[in-house]
Amino acid sequence: MVNSAAGVARIRTMTVPEFASAKQRGQRLVMVTAYDYTQARLVDEAGVDGVLVGDSLGMVVQGMPDVLSVTLEEVLYHTRCVARGLKHALLVADMPFLSYQVSTEQAVLNAGRLIKEGGAHAVKLEGGVRSRNVIAALVRADIPVMGHIGLTPQSVRRLGGFRVQRSKDQLFEDAQAVAEAGAFAIVIECVPAEIAAAITASLPIPTIGIGAGAGCDGQILVLHDLLGLYPDFRPRFVKSYGELGAQVTAAIKQYAEEVRQGLFPSPEYEFH
Ligand code: KIV
Repeated sequence: MVNSAAGVARIRTMTVPEFASAKQRGQRLVMVTAYDYTQARLVDEAGVDGVLVGDSLGMVVQGMPDVLSVTLEEVLYHTRCVARGLKHALLVADMPFLSYQVSTEQAVLNAGRLIKEGGAHAVKLEGGVRSRNVIAALVRADIPVMGHIGLTPQSVRRLGGFRVQRSKDQLFEDAQAVAEAGAFAIVIECVPAEIAAAITASLPIPTIGIGAGAGCDGQILVLHDLLGLYPDFRPRFVKSYGELGAQVTAAIKQYAEEVRQGLFPSPEYEFH
């Protein structure tokens, strides 16, 4: 907490340098995804360090089988909603498929929109060695970048599915390339814990694991998985800290029952 000029206590916003230097302070980083204002308020109040507007919105919000159809406009829309709900956490917006692969010029313009119009503090994009030039171009344009290696969901067609990535040399080369290109942090997804821990020890920037074991500098989960809200698919690495889906269905069933029996609205919910 810090005191504002008006003397009112407020929570300080996490910055990119503060996030990046958590590794040196030995502080584990907590990230979660969010896609709207209400979710953003809830996760911010819980005190997470970073919030990602992930292209996972294609699956958990839009009901698509993968993330490939998500557009920049959609990420922009959800980023704006989330930005309004955050007071503390660092806001990272995902760059969707084909928003950064075509040319570095297009990547800078698209990432710039997520910062200028969306209110994001940073962007995330997938790929190691193959994305090093685009990461460097964004960093030159003063756009902070979070990398993402290992299982990169936008590569699902090439990979043939969502699979654990075990190619140690490739993973090390990718992590090194992302760090050298100037990224301030890197997501490592679905990688054996031993490899992720060794990469973490070798890098100056924080690693944020998802399905990559406890040896990373921080962790991220998709909000709907963490809360038990997404029944279609639950990867083995996900721990659900609640079963809100079942609670929501039970609450709505009770509401339906009370409406059908004429019990709701009862007098205290009526105007006279
Ligand atoms: O889109 C997303 O939510 C992500 C996280 C799983 C890291 O990329």
